[in-house]
Amino acid sequence: MANNENRGFTSNIGAILAAAGGAVGLGNIWRFPYMLGNNGGGAFLLVYVFFVLLIGIPLMMTEFIIGRRSQKNAIGAYRTLSPKHKGWMIIGIFNIIGATLIYAFYSVVAGWTLNYVVLACGNKLSGQSPEAVAQLFANFTQSSCWPLFFQLMFLIITAGVIALGVQKGIEKMSKILMPALFILLILMCVRSLTLGDGVREGMNFLFKPDFSKIDGSCLLSALGQSFFSLSIGMGAMVTYGSYIRKEDKLFNSSLWIAGCDSMVAILAGIVIFPAVFAFGMSPASGPELVYIVLPNVFNSMPGGAIFAIIFFLLLAIAALTSTISLLEILVATAVEELHWKRRTASIVGTVLVFTIGAFCTLSFGPLKDFHICGFTIFDLFDRLTASYLMPIGALAMTIFLGWFFPKAEVRDELSNGGSLKAKAFDIYYFILRYVAPIALIIILISGIIG
Ligand code: PHE
Repeated sequence: MANNENRGFTSNIGAILAAAGGAVGLGNIWRFPYMLGNNGGGAFLLVYVFFVLLIGIPLMMTEFIIGRRSQKNAIGAYRTLSPKHKGWMIIGIFNIIGATLIYAFYSVVAGWTLNYVVLACGNKLSGQSPEAVAQLFANFTQSSCWPLFFQLMFLIITAGVIALGVQKGIEKMSKILMPALFILLILMCVRSLTLGDGVREGMNFLFKPDFSKIDGSCLLSALGQSFFSLSIGMGAMVTYGSYIRKEDKLFNSSLWIAGCDSMVAILAGIVIFPAVFAFGMSPASGPELVYIVLPNVFNSMPGGAIFAIIFFLLLAIAALTSTISLLEILVATAVEELHWKRRTASIVGTVLVFTIGAFCTLSFGPLKDFHICGFTIFDLFDRLTASYLMPIGALAMTIFLGWFFPKAEVRDELSNGGSLKAKAFDIYYFILRYVAPIALIIILISGIIG
């Protein structure tokens, strides 16, 4: 990365797939279904889609603008765009802390997916009673040693990709993994929709909103989920934005990325809920939903052993493209700000995250009863980042770009130096200045007092 000519993505499609890869992840296939299951089904989906359209897409554009304009990492971007008021760099520092915390707990669940790929390939999940499947999950997550091993494996694979660089690592992997993910997901959908019994109930649960379920907690969870899923407010899209070519259209790219991301979440819902209802499981099973409920579902369906392999592979691929983006936030900053070598930065970042992440893993085992503010370390990191750090980071960013940074420069970046008409600019700018910050403040306050 010392070589600035080769700094970024080589094509528009490469950029879209890489950023979509960063966005699409465990957030869509693991977190979204259980959040939806816990927060009232269709009503949650509706609020979620509303937030993606109203705030998510404009904020993704905002991150891309900041990244591409500055050609810098999460911290350097603010230093470059605001050379006189260096205090804005605090947003970047906040992003780096948040990204580290997310990566720490995210890698725990990513490690689980590897273990489940191995179990599914060894046909170890088939023919087990529901109790045995639940016991298997409990034994595994509480055992410390194996979860730590798989977590470390995942971190090492990610570091390997990042060490290869933006073009040979991130872009190349995304071009292979993202199409693979879509194919596997479509296969799973076809299977789920042909299950017969639970299809109607599952689809109703997912798509029929019960408006009485929309309350403060539903709003905050849906907002947090949309930020988490689109990777907003953590500097991920600032970093990737800095790799997008000057001639690419930021608005169109954001639409594609957010579209892909929401589609994967909805498709994951279509895979999971019909199956859950068909086999009489509970949609509100929490974080264990895909690890306990789904293996049972696979056990009761014809061809389940194969579909278990497909599903967990899908989950691992989705997780990998996201962990790549998480590590890149840290590595790009270390390379550009501290002038470290990419390899060194990947290793140091990985060691740091593993050190913190190990506590998240252990919070399912030996540290299960260790609570901070009523949460285990894992839950605390999850909640702290998605419900608070990401919205606060995003709020600070909207204030920077909407109120501090010159409007003409924002327009210039979005319209590629005036060569695009950028018809929606005024709407975007209005959302940036007013709608997004006000919505964020209201929801944050209601979340804190509620
Ligand atoms: N968006 C990713 C997911 O849905 C998670 C993520 C959050 C990645 C923030 C990078 C930054 O899984």
